[in-house]
Amino acid sequence: MKLVAGPASRDIAYKISSHMNVDIVEVEHKFFPDSENYIRIKQPVKGEDVVIIQGMHPPQDTHIFQTFLLIDVLLDLGANSVELVSPYLAYTRQDKRFLDGEAVSFKALLNILDKLSLKKIYTVNIHCPWLIPESPLPIVDLRGEKPLAQYIQQHHFNNPIVVSVGKKGLDMAKMVAEYLNAQYTAAQSERDRVTGQVRVELDGIPGVEAIVVDDIISTGGTMVELIKLLKKRGFKKIYATCIHALLVGNAVEKIFNAGADRIIASDTIPNKFAEYSVAQLISEELKKNHG
Ligand code: R5P
Repeated sequence: MKLVAGPASRDIAYKISSHMNVDIVEVEHKFFPDSENYIRIKQPVKGEDVVIIQGMHPPQDTHIFQTFLLIDVLLDLGANSVELVSPYLAYTRQDKRFLDGEAVSFKALLNILDKLSLKKIYTVNIHCPWLIPESPLPIVDLRGEKPLAQYIQQHHFNNPIVVSVGKKGLDMAKMVAEYLNAQYTAAQSERDRVTGQVRVELDGIPGVEAIVVDDIISTGGTMVELIKLLKKRGFKKIYATCIHALLVGNAVEKIFNAGADRIIASDTIPNKFAEYSVAQLISEELKKNHG
């Protein structure tokens, strides 16, 4: 088996290669003056089972197109099979047609990857797990709650409450809370499809310290509303945590202004709050699948 470090995810690819003790196949990548991508595979891959490590975080469409080029060239160069580790998958929040006429972007993306003969996708905390059974190619959804909880455990909370949002968030909160032996709850949230404004409601649970967990922090809108609510309820120490830190625009500033003490994220997306890693989780799964 060979690992290929895609241009979007070189750091985590090297962490995975060191956990697995497997060499990285180098990729030369550059942009032409008109911003088109150039990709060249620098070592032979003929007959190899190859795993590409390439996330789909912003700039999503660039990273997605690089993924297409990588799959296509590796198979063209004679790789026996090509799998993809995409720690963050893009377009998963457009998993259905919310308004008439909308493209179901995530399904379109999966169809294209399947047509390119990609064998399998590994990802972390996919936003739409309900679509996995419908996917034209297998998707392995790894869960980042344990590495997150292990990291939080080192930070000495005093009887904290783990808070999340929505039904899926409740599962996440439960996994983190069970590991920490803490109480947990989830707020209900509603997003205005046109303005993007989020409204959250949370049944009253008293407490002083809170760990807010979400799969994604994008604009920070959901996190900010939760933090404001917790502050009003008297919580004094609040950690804003997530798996995927998109942190779009001024999300960071908004989250700290709302009263968070820290932001803690994983390294599925390169970001300055990536305090814990999912590299070992991914490595263990790849080892299981590739002996
Ligand atoms: C929603 O279903 C997700 O779990 C996140 O809460 C959401 O994607 C966060 O987005 P934003 O940061 O823009 O509120």
